[in-house]
This record gives sequence, C-alpha cells and structure tokens, in this order.
Amino acid sequence: MLDDWIHLHTPGLPDAPVLLMLHGTGSNERDIAGLAGMLHPDATVLSPRGRVSENGMNRWFRRLSEGVFDVEDVVTRSAELVDFIARAREAYGLEGRQLIAVGLSNGANIALATALLRPDVIDRVVAFSGMFPLDDRELDTDLSASAIFLANGVSDPMAPHESVNRLVAALDARGAEVTRSSRPGGHGIDQADFAAAQEWLRQHAA
Ligand code: MLT
Repeated sequence: MLDDWIHLHTPGLPDAPVLLMLHGTGSNERDIAGLAGMLHPDATVLSPRGRVSENGMNRWFRRLSEGVFDVEDVVTRSAELVDFIARAREAYGLEGRQLIAVGLSNGANIALATALLRPDVIDRVVAFSGMFPLDDRELDTDLSASAIFLANGVSDPMAPHESVNRLVAALDARGAEVTRSSRPGGHGIDQADFAAAQEWLRQHAA
C-alpha cells in the first residue's frame, strides 16, 4: 500500500521526467527532495523514506557492517521499492512517464541494485557516492536500454574505488551506457558532481 510509505510527491510539468529521490543513511525524504529542483526544476518529485532503521537512522537495506551489505535484504528491499514505484505511478497518474532515480550514498546503492535487478522499472540512475551493492549475487538481466551516471570521490572509504570498478564492469557487461565522473576527495556530493549530473540529465532526460 502506498500509505505504508512515508513519502513526498510534488507534481511537475507533464512532459518532464519523474525524479525518484533516494536519501542517504540517517537522512530523510525532505532533505534529498531539496536537490531535485536544482537538478531539474520542471520534474515531478517522488521522494520516499527508507524503511530500515539502523539505531534510529533511516536506510534502504540492512548492512552487517560499514560497506558489508546484507544482500538478501538488498534484494528484498529493492523489490519493495519496485512495488512503491508501481503504486505511486498509479496513484499520481505517472504511468508512461520517464523515471530517473537519483540517489546519494545508501540511496545510490538501492537505486543501483534495483537498476541491476529490475531494469524494466529503473533504467536511468544518477548515483552520487554509490558502489556495487550485490556482492556475489547472480545477475541475468539485460541493461542494454539503461543509462547510469556515477559520481564518486576517488578516495572515498565508504564507496571504495575497487567496488566502483566492479560496479562499472557489471553494468558494462550487461550492456548499460555508463557515464563515470570521478573527482578528488571522499564521500558525498560536491559542485563538480552536481554540475556533471546536471549535464548528464540535460542529455538523458526525455
Ligand atoms: C551503505 O551502507 O549503503 C554505504 O556504506 C553508504 C552508507 O553509509 O550509507
């Protein structure tokens, strides 16, 4: 049920995309929704709150320790997000509209997991400080219609370079179009990430 999800919905122009905003650990739907207007002022915004609590911090899936994910839970929560998207599309009349998932950190990781598992539901992702979220999970999906933007700091201990390389290899192997923006520094979003994401959106938003 859509009522099971705390979320924001802000209508935009009908010919602009829907931005699915996915917050990071300890944040919420309001904080991340604030980015949407700067990325695409005409977009419709859907911003749900992650339903996992880690010591009171909102998250999208459980982790065993920092950077070590409970992959079963990633898959389960990704399926729940797919269900949220379907319900929100129906409730808000968004069927047929282009949807672009925009995630930061843990939000980027659930967006990327869903893009890898369900490219029929999420085929456009802007991922800030994301990494490979599915460890050794077998994947048999075709991502040849997907386009993924990755912005990462090259010395990010929370989204290590090797994991981002593994992510890029997994996306490439499944045929996705991958745009990678690397900058000096660590976790989060900086101006360079933001400017590169805006440019990518200019090219990829329908
Ligand atoms: C995760 O758990 O998804 C990543 O380690 C990033 C974060 O701390 O949320």
